[in-house]
Amino acid sequence: MLKRIFLVICFLVICLPSALAAQLCIPNAPEACQVRLSIKTALGEKAYEWNEHEKFLFRAAMAFAMRKHKEQEFSLSDIILCNETVRVSFWFVVTSPLNPSVLVERKDIEKAVSKFRHRINGAFLLSDTTLEFVNIYPTLAAPVVPNTPPWLIVFGVVIGLIGAGIVFLLTSTIVQKRRKKQQKAEEGDEDIEELEAKTVENGSTSEGVYNTTFSDDDRFTQM
Ligand SMILES: *[C@@H]1O[C@H](CO)[C@@H](O)[C@H](O)[C@H]1NC(C)=O
Repeated sequence: MLKRIFLVICFLVICLPSALAAQLCIPNAPEACQVRLSIKTALGEKAYEWNEHEKFLFRAAMAFAMRKHKEQEFSLSDIILCNETVRVSFWFVVTSPLNPSVLVERKDIEKAVSKFRHRINGAFLLSDTTLEFVNIYPTLAAPVVPNTPPWLIVFGVVIGLIGAGIVFLLTSTIVQKRRKKQQKAEEGDEDIEELEAKTVENGSTSEGVYNTTFSDDDRFTQM
């Protein structure tokens, strides 16, 4: 009789909750997540065995991630593992700390995992590829931001083109002005040369006459 009572109590206290928990964790259910581990691949000789202690650590790490993400008091019992395979893979679900029969939505688990991926990886000395949360991508939380954002590159190119245009315009106008100056100077030289040639031709022309013609010329150009 006592044995029977003990068995019933055992069933109610130990077996029933775990049976219920196992019922909550169903592979491919909308709220369930799958994990694949490649401990040997990652650590080779230093590989550790996936045992109850490691599972405890996983549940603790997941509870930690869920706590940080949801700011609710998740505990070990809220992280339920099931359908473990030898070459380690398993499924898990997360129950609400407010009601252990309610499952946390998968999108919340995904966000928590993505946010604290590095902390979970660190606990197991594994990487994103050797500790795989199937269909949960670590890039979800921290999208890869290139060092130089695309708009900055476009902006740089546009500014560069405008700058090059301004430099081109400035240099071309300067060059044109210089050419004009040179042309004018050359024409002036020719005039002077012509005048000199004339004076040389005339021979007898005195310097005084030459000067007056020059000053007359000046007056003309001023007008
Ligand atoms: C998961 O485990 C349960 C109970 O051990 C079993 O009934 C079920 O078929 C398993 N599902 C898969 C997909 O392996």
